[in-house]
Amino acid sequence: VVDIRKYYGETGMFTYDPGFTSTASCDSSITFIDGDEGVLMHRGYKIEDLASKCTFMEVCYLLLHGELPTAEQLAKFDHDITYHTMLHEQMVNFYRGFRRDSHPMAIMVGVVGALSAFYHDSTDITDPYQRMVAQHRLIAKMPTIAAWAYKYSIGQPFMYPRNDLNYAENFLQMTFAVPAEDYKVNPVLARAMDRIFILHADHEQNASTSTVRIAGSSGANPFACIAAGIASLWGPAHGGANEAVLQMLQEIGHKDRIPEFIKRAKDKDDPFRLMGFGHRVYKNYDPRAKVMQQSCHEVLDELGKRDEPLLALAMELERIALEDDYFAEKKLFPNVDFYSGIILQAMGFPTSMFTVLFALARTVGWVAQWTEMIEDPGHRISRPRQLYTGYTEREFVPIDRR
Ligand code: ACO
Repeated sequence: VVDIRKYYGETGMFTYDPGFTSTASCDSSITFIDGDEGVLMHRGYKIEDLASKCTFMEVCYLLLHGELPTAEQLAKFDHDITYHTMLHEQMVNFYRGFRRDSHPMAIMVGVVGALSAFYHDSTDITDPYQRMVAQHRLIAKMPTIAAWAYKYSIGQPFMYPRNDLNYAENFLQMTFAVPAEDYKVNPVLARAMDRIFILHADHEQNASTSTVRIAGSSGANPFACIAAGIASLWGPAHGGANEAVLQMLQEIGHKDRIPEFIKRAKDKDDPFRLMGFGHRVYKNYDPRAKVMQQSCHEVLDELGKRDEPLLALAMELERIALEDDYFAEKKLFPNVDFYSGIILQAMGFPTSMFTVLFALARTVGWVAQWTEMIEDPGHRISRPRQLYTGYTEREFVPIDRR
C-alpha cells in the first residue's frame, strides 16, 4: 500500500487539470470576470464605466491601490510615473545590439529583462518602497521601451519622453514624431489609445499573468518576472491574436469568401480557427470587444477612413459567425482582439507592434498581480504536479549494450 500523501501532499488529493480550466491558482481581489454574463470588473468597477469615464492613469492607480484616486492622489501618481519615463542612456547601446529586423516583441523581452541590470536598487523585493519604485519604473518606462523598439526597427532616431504630455500622448509622440517635423498629437487618437490601454490593463489569471506570478513566486525580481510575462503574451493564442485577426481578414479579402473560412473554422481536420473568436472564460460577448468596436468607429471617422474595407469585412464576418450554429453551440463570440487590430492599423501601427501595445497596457495588471502575491504572507512557490506517464523502473543498460 502506497501512502499517496507522500506524493500528493497532506490531503492526499490529486487533481489533473491540463490548461488549468477549473483550478484556481491563487486568490485575488483585483479583477472579476463572469464569463457567462460577459462581465469584467476591476476592484468592483465595470470595464465599460472605466473605459468611458476614466483615464488609463486612474485605472492604473485603481489596480495598484484598490480605490479610484482623488484628484490629489492622481496628480501625485501621475508625477511619480512621469518622473521615471526616461531610460538609462546606456540602454541605447543595448538596443543597438539587436538586428535591425528583430521583431519588436523580441526586443521587449530582452530590454525589459535587462532593466534589472540597470536598476539594481528596485530588485530588492523585500523592501516595500523599492517594490513601489519598481512598479512605477515598469509602468513609466514601458511606453519608451515599446516606442524605441519600433523606432529601431524602422531606422529612425529615438524620441525621448515628454513629460508635458499624458501617458497615451507621450507614447504616440515617441512612436510617430520625428525630430525634423512638428508633430501634434491628435486628441481623438490619444483618447482611443488610452482606452485601448484601459481595456487591456488586467484580465485576472490569464497565461501571461499566471507566468508573472509563477516566476515571481520563486522570489525573482519584478523586471525578470514582467519579461517572462511578455514572452508568454507573445503567442498567437494570447496577445498575438489581434495580429492574427488582421492577417486573417486580409487573407479572406472579400465578404464573398467568408463562408469558405467559416467552413474551414468548423472543420476539425483543418487547423484554421477564426482568430479573434472564442475565449477560455467568456462564453458570452467579451465586454471589451463592444467598447473596442465603438472605438474603432470613432477612430476611423476621425481619420476619414469610415469606409475601411477591413472593418466592413470584420462586421460581416461577426454577423455570419454569430448566426452559425457551430459558434452558438460552442459559445464562441468576438473577443477584445477582434477589432483592436483594425484600429491600430488605422492609427499607423504595423502589425508587429500590436502585441507590444498589449504588453505595454498589461504591465500594470502584471505588476498589480505580482505585488498582491508578494504581499500575501501565505504565498508559496508555485509548483504544479504532473501525471507521470513514462516508464516504471527499468534496469540500466551500459552504453556498449544499447
Ligand atoms: N474558431 C473555431 N473553433 C474554435 C475557436 C475558433 N476561434 N475557438 C474555439 N473553437 C472550438 C475548438 O475547436 C473546440 O472545439 P471542440 O470542442 O469541438 O474540440 C471548442 O471550440 C473549445 O475550444 P478550446 O480550444 O478547447 O477552448 P480554449 O478555452 O482552450 O481556447 C482560445 C480559447 C485559445 C482563445 C480559442 O478560442 C482560440 O484559439 N481562439 C482564437 C485565438 C484568439 O482569438 N485568441 C485571443 C484570446 S483573447 C486574449 O488573449 C486577449
